[in-house]
Amino acid sequence: MSEINSAVPVHVGIIMDGNGRWAKQRNLPRTSGHKEGLDVAKAIVKAAAEIGIKYVTLYTFSTENWKRPQAEISAIMSLIAEYLDNETDEMDRNNVVLNFIGDLSMIPKDSLAAINRSVEQLRNNTGLKVNIALNYGGRDDITRSAKRIAEKVKHGELDINDITEKTLNDNLYLPVDCD
Ligand code: FPP
Repeated sequence: MSEINSAVPVHVGIIMDGNGRWAKQRNLPRTSGHKEGLDVAKAIVKAAAEIGIKYVTLYTFSTENWKRPQAEISAIMSLIAEYLDNETDEMDRNNVVLNFIGDLSMIPKDSLAAINRSVEQLRNNTGLKVNIALNYGGRDDITRSAKRIAEKVKHGELDINDITEKTLNDNLYLPVDCD
């Protein structure tokens, strides 16, 4: 029988914010803030695996973040690839599974290759599940879910009268019961 430690949360969501302010307070470039934020994320993932949290979702780069200067966007995308290249073996040792949510079609080729390598390497692990939200937006997620449902109705796979809140949930990137 598995024991649930009620002091340990099942799912922790983290919005990566304040990186720029952290850097500004220290008269450093914004990218230094992103590096620092990434180091904190690394430490959190390691600790979460150790204490038995089931899911960590890191909101890293939203659909709105494309409005930032190109140099900052490129730096963030490179940091993501660097993080994955350097940390995947350690995540593997910690039995972590990695999952990305968001529209990855706009992610630069090199970063996308690093993402695919890491996801593939960690695919069969059974421990902490880390979801990384990248080019993710809540409204975009709901719109995508509605389109997926509409496709099923169009192809006769789903009756319109059978659409419920659960149908909407089940077609999100990360359904609430995300096992
Ligand atoms: C918000 O801080 C942070 C971001 C827009 C990007 C953060 C993403 C990374 C550092 C990459 C993380 C990657 C992985 C794989 C975990 P902000 O710049 O909005 O800070 P501010 O609100 O102080 O200006």
